[in-house]
Amino acid sequence: MTVVTHFQTTSIAQATLRGRHLQLAHQVRHTFERIGIEHRNDDGIVFTPRVKRIAWTPDGDIALIELDESRLWHIPSTRLTNPDTLRKLRRTIGQPIAVLETDHTGQRLPGIWYVVSFAPQPPLPESLRLTLEVIQHINADGLLVPVGQFKHTPGITYRTLDQLGHVLIGSATQRGKTSLLNAWIGALAARNTPDRYQLIIIDAKATTLHRWRGLRHLKQYATTLDEALNTLTAIEVLADQHFAAIRAARLDNWHDFNARGDHPLPAIHVVVDELPDFVFQSGGPTGEFATLLARLAGKVLGAGVFLTIAGTQMGSDVLPPLLRANMITRIAFQTSDRYKSLAVLNEVGAEKLPAIKGRALWRDAERPTQLIETQMVYLDGEDVDAIVALNGPSGAESQSTQAAAFVPTIAGVRPELAQDIARWVVTTGQTDVRSVWAEFRGKGLARNKAIGLLNEWEAVGLLGAQETARDPRPVLQPFRDRLGLGSENDSA
Ligand SMILES: Nc1ncnc2c1ncn2[C@@H]1O[C@H](COP(=O)(O)OP(=O)(O)OP(=O)(O)O)[C@@H](O)[C@H]1O
Ligand SMILES: [Mg+2]
Repeated sequence: MTVVTHFQTTSIAQATLRGRHLQLAHQVRHTFERIGIEHRNDDGIVFTPRVKRIAWTPDGDIALIELDESRLWHIPSTRLTNPDTLRKLRRTIGQPIAVLETDHTGQRLPGIWYVVSFAPQPPLPESLRLTLEVIQHINADGLLVPVGQFKHTPGITYRTLDQLGHVLIGSATQRGKTSLLNAWIGALAARNTPDRYQLIIIDAKATTLHRWRGLRHLKQYATTLDEALNTLTAIEVLADQHFAAIRAARLDNWHDFNARGDHPLPAIHVVVDELPDFVFQSGGPTGEFATLLARLAGKVLGAGVFLTIAGTQMGSDVLPPLLRANMITRIAFQTSDRYKSLAVLNEVGAEKLPAIKGRALWRDAERPTQLIETQMVYLDGEDVDAIVALNGPSGAESQSTQAAAFVPTIAGVRPELAQDIARWVVTTGQTDVRSVWAEFRGKGLARNKAIGLLNEWEAVGLLGAQETARDPRPVLQPFRDRLGLGSENDSA
C-alpha cells in the first residue's frame, strides 16, 4: 500500500513537472516570437532566443530558466529584461516572473536568467469590507488610504494620496466603484481633521455619495452642471492659493510644504462620480467640463489637490487625452468588453475578471508595469452614516457632534464609549487606569480594555508617557484639539 501511494504521488508530481517544463520552454520562445525579439542574419535566417535549460527546486515551486546564449547575438539584453517583455512573459506563463541578475552570493550571473514562481497562492477574498473599527485601527499616517488585497500579497495594501496621485476608476455598473469611493473617503475623513483633509464631491447621480453631505470635511457637493463648473473653477482658485503659500515658503510642492510640520495645507480630495454624465451634458470631451477638468488634472497635484474619477464609460468619447494622460492610478472592475478595459487601463483584461463585486485590476506608479488583480476595499452605507455621525458639521447647533470628533479606540471598546472616555479623561485630567476604570466599568469597560485604551492613546501621541508607573500621563494638546476642547489655558 505504502509503495503504491508513494509511487502515485511522485509520478503525478513528476508528470506535472515535466508538463510545466516543456510548456515553459515553449511559452518563453513563443512570447519572443510574438513580440518580435529575434535576429535575422545576413543569410536571412531568423534566430529567436530559446531556453537552454530549466532547473527546479525539489518542491517544484520555483523554476530557473537560462536562455541559450548562442542565440542571443545582436539582441540587446535589455530587450529581454525590460518591464514590458517581463509583463508579456508573465501574461503568457500565467505565473510571477522576474529577472535573476545575481546568484545567492551576490555574484553577477553570466547570460540571461529568469526565475518563475509556481508556489501556490492563497486565493483572494471575495469581499473586503472596511468598518469604522478597522479604519480606527489603521495606526499610521492619516493620509494613508487602504486599497485592497493584491493577488500574491498578504494583507491590505495601503497608498498615500501622494502615491496615488489622480485616480481613474471604471467598470460596468454595480461593480463597486462608488463603494470604493466611500471606503477611501471614510478612511480619510475618520482619521483626519478638516485642516488635514477636505473633500469636494461632484456627482451627477446625487444619490450614491449623498450620505456624505453632513460630513464636516465636505467643502462642496455639486450635482448640477452649473454647480460642477463653478466647483471646478473654485478648485483652481484654491490650488493657486496653495501654490502661493508653497512658493512663499520657497518650496516646490505640497508634499515638501507639509513635511516641514507647522501649519500644513489640507489635502483637497476631489471625487467625481458618474463622470460621463457631466461630460456629455457639457458637449463631450472638448466641452467645458472635460476641458476644465483636464486642465486641473495637469496642474494641481503639486498643490495637494487629488482627483479621483469614476464612471462607466472612459473611452475617448468621454475623456480628453490630456485628462487620461494625467490619471496615474488606474482601477478597472469588471468591464462589459475588452474595449472598456482598454479605455481604463490601456490594456485588455478587466472583461475577464471573475464576477465578484469589488474584484479589479490595479495599476499605479509604484508598480507601473504590472496589472495586479485586487480585491478592493468597500464601505457600506451604514458605516458611512456612522462616520458622518462622528464627524458632523461644525456650527453651534451641532456642537456636540463636532466635539465627538474621531478618537482612536481598540478592539472591544465601542467607538462611542471611547469618545465618552476621551472627553472625561481630557476634561478631568484623570489619566490613570484605576480612575478611568472606576468611572466607566458601569458602562461595560473591562480593566484590561482601560489599560489598552490608555496605551493606545499614548502610542498615537494623544497622551504623554508616564514618568514612573504611578504618575498620571499628561493630556497632550492634540487630544484637546481632536475633541474641540481648546488649550489648557482656555479651559483653566
Ligand atoms: N468590494 C465589494 N465587496 C462586496 N460587495 C460590494 C463591493 N463593492 C460593491 N459591493 C456591492 O455592490 C453593489 C454595487 O456597488 P456600487 O454602487 O459601488 O457599484 P458601482 O460600480 O458604483 O455601480 P454604478 O455604476 O451603478 O454606480 C453595492 O450594493 C455594494 O453593496
Ligand atoms: Mg456608482
